[in-house]
Amino acid sequence: MVLPFIRSDLAQFSAYKPHPGSDTAQPVDSTQIDRLDTNESSEDLPLELQEKLVWTYQELIENNRYPDGGHEKLKNAIATYVNESAHLSSDTFTPVNISVGNGSDELIRSLLIASCLKGEGSIIVAEPTFSMYGILAKTLGIPVVNLTRDKSNFAIDIQAAENAIKNTQNPPIRTVFVVHPNSPTGNALTTAEIDWLKRLPENILVVIDEAYFEFSQTTLGAELLQHPNWIILRTFSKAFRLAGHRVGYCIAHPDAIAILEKVRLPYNLPSVSLAAALIAMENRQLMLLESVPQILTERAKLIQALSQNANLKVWDSDANFIFVQLQSPNIDIKTINQKLRTSGTVVREIHEGLRITIGTPAENSRTLQRIEAIFSK
Ligand SMILES: Cc1ncc(COP(=O)(O)O)c(C=O)c1O
Repeated sequence: MVLPFIRSDLAQFSAYKPHPGSDTAQPVDSTQIDRLDTNESSEDLPLELQEKLVWTYQELIENNRYPDGGHEKLKNAIATYVNESAHLSSDTFTPVNISVGNGSDELIRSLLIASCLKGEGSIIVAEPTFSMYGILAKTLGIPVVNLTRDKSNFAIDIQAAENAIKNTQNPPIRTVFVVHPNSPTGNALTTAEIDWLKRLPENILVVIDEAYFEFSQTTLGAELLQHPNWIILRTFSKAFRLAGHRVGYCIAHPDAIAILEKVRLPYNLPSVSLAAALIAMENRQLMLLESVPQILTERAKLIQALSQNANLKVWDSDANFIFVQLQSPNIDIKTINQKLRTSGTVVREIHEGLRITIGTPAENSRTLQRIEAIFSK
């Protein structure tokens, strides 16, 4: 039904589907479903941290009170982690450089509101990339300019990007979104791409999404100091295993943070989510040392094993997922995806390929067996 009081352009959009395809193919044996389609961690928090969170909930959190709307404690802990992880001195970034969001999704929307709304700007994204930049921009009526990538390494077509910036008017390009490393393709920004970002004028906001930083260990944190028009986005949803709590943050010049603080909702994060993120920060060594090396080892094993399959093109990855495409035109990626789903492994079909999250060793070996079984039939 068309609702006459709703903006006319919204009718053509579809809502974000967290698990696309789940309605078309169901696993036959529902006892063993491996959810490897959203790049979460397959492992929950270590038990001792779950217990700390339960204790915090019971002893410290007041359900009847609004959460801490200023996020000061968490911002402090994040600033310390950011400095440490970028090998910067401990006073480089401070809480004035941090804003916390209800997932980085909220921060993406706030950045769009702050930079492009009211017909003031368009955005650039290079496909394939994280879909939410385009989706959120369109719901706000912000035009999206889609660029392509080099087919041999998924690097952004810089010449096309420069032309788009020169030629896009009414409204001009205000914001460029890049992911480091990119999803779904897993490649980190190249030196040429970073040099291009450095050349962009100060009236263009550069959003560098480092959602997978803990796996790539490459950050543009140090460079951000020289570029007040850059903003780095990070999330607790991946390596920190807190996707269920919806916590993301950004690192930026204090003036940009002040604007984001104006745009966000007053109590954008529930008390339990703030507590979970703080516990993750305070116990970051335990959390990361335990899981990240295992994921990297498993990633290498999966890439190595799948590369033996002549039907597949397996791309290298700097993140906690891999991107796989088909070498043979006789097989259809949709069919492979549906067969994999039916056998119990749920992955993401995107850009004529499959993005497969690295799971536990058991999940990964099932993924391998199931893919091999599809091709051996
Ligand atoms: C590149 C990228 N940015 C942001 C997000 C969303 O993160 P959050 O859970 O913090 O909203 C994702 C989630 O998959 C992602 O891949």
